[in-house]
Amino acid sequence: MMAVKRYAIFGASGCGRGVMPLARQQLAHLTEPYELVFVDDNPPAPTCNGHAVWTYAEWLAQPATSRHINIAIANSPVREKLVQRCEADGVQFLELRAANVVQLDEVHLGEGAILCPFVTLTSNIRIGRHFHANLYSYVEHDCVIGDFVTFAPGVMCNGNIVIEDHAYIGTGAVIKQGKPGEPLVIGRGATVGMGAVVTKSVPPGATVVGNPAKPMQKG
Ligand SMILES: CC(C)(COP(=O)(O)OP(=O)(O)OC[C@H]1O[C@@H](n2cnc3c(N)ncnc32)[C@H](O)[C@@H]1OP(=O)(O)O)[C@@H](O)C(=O)NCCC(=O)NCCS
Repeated sequence: MMAVKRYAIFGASGCGRGVMPLARQQLAHLTEPYELVFVDDNPPAPTCNGHAVWTYAEWLAQPATSRHINIAIANSPVREKLVQRCEADGVQFLELRAANVVQLDEVHLGEGAILCPFVTLTSNIRIGRHFHANLYSYVEHDCVIGDFVTFAPGVMCNGNIVIEDHAYIGTGAVIKQGKPGEPLVIGRGATVGMGAVVTKSVPPGATVVGNPAKPMQKG
């Protein structure tokens, strides 16, 4: 087997299958030989949507001039574990960005992000590592977003909001803007339910739902 540039999407489930076409489109301009596959430790089938599916160990065993991967796993603690594993093996991280993503001035985005079709990042924004922004999400001015944050489709993250590491924001959530120097804060590991209208800061680890969003009542 020839040593080529090896590119992979880690995860052949919904998230991975959804972003594979972005990787295909991004790599289409490469002139040197490369291979683009899924990596999945529980391969659903030997191939998926026209791409081979390898276990991580099988993928690492193939000769490569370089290795590049995107961790397309929505569960952020699992995503972080896989990032650590890939880092230990010297694998580089591939950013996936749809061709129609809008990004304005002074946006600092960490490595390994997924920016799906119709995502908008406006100006003066800092975002950490391995951020996932699903379809039609936006991040408005002066937001600070941590590492391993996940946006489901259609998240409306308005200006002056801080979102700490590992927070998960559900589909169609609307987060009220903060003020300069007085941001609205979504705490570390918090979950915002789909459709929530978040008008106040959310404590770390809390799950909020509804309009206005309130802590979810269990049981
Ligand atoms: C908030 C959330 C995390 C809770 O998940 P869960 O713990 O499995 O919750 P359950 O489905 O057991 O629901 C518990 C209760 O909360 C209610 N509830 C769940 N999600 C809700 C939401 N987003 N808004 C309002 N109420 C909600 C349920 O109706 C249920 O109420 P009941 O006890 O009166 O029947 C989840 O419902 C959610 O919104 N996830 C985001 C989904 C998403 O955006 N996916 C995108 C995939 S790309």
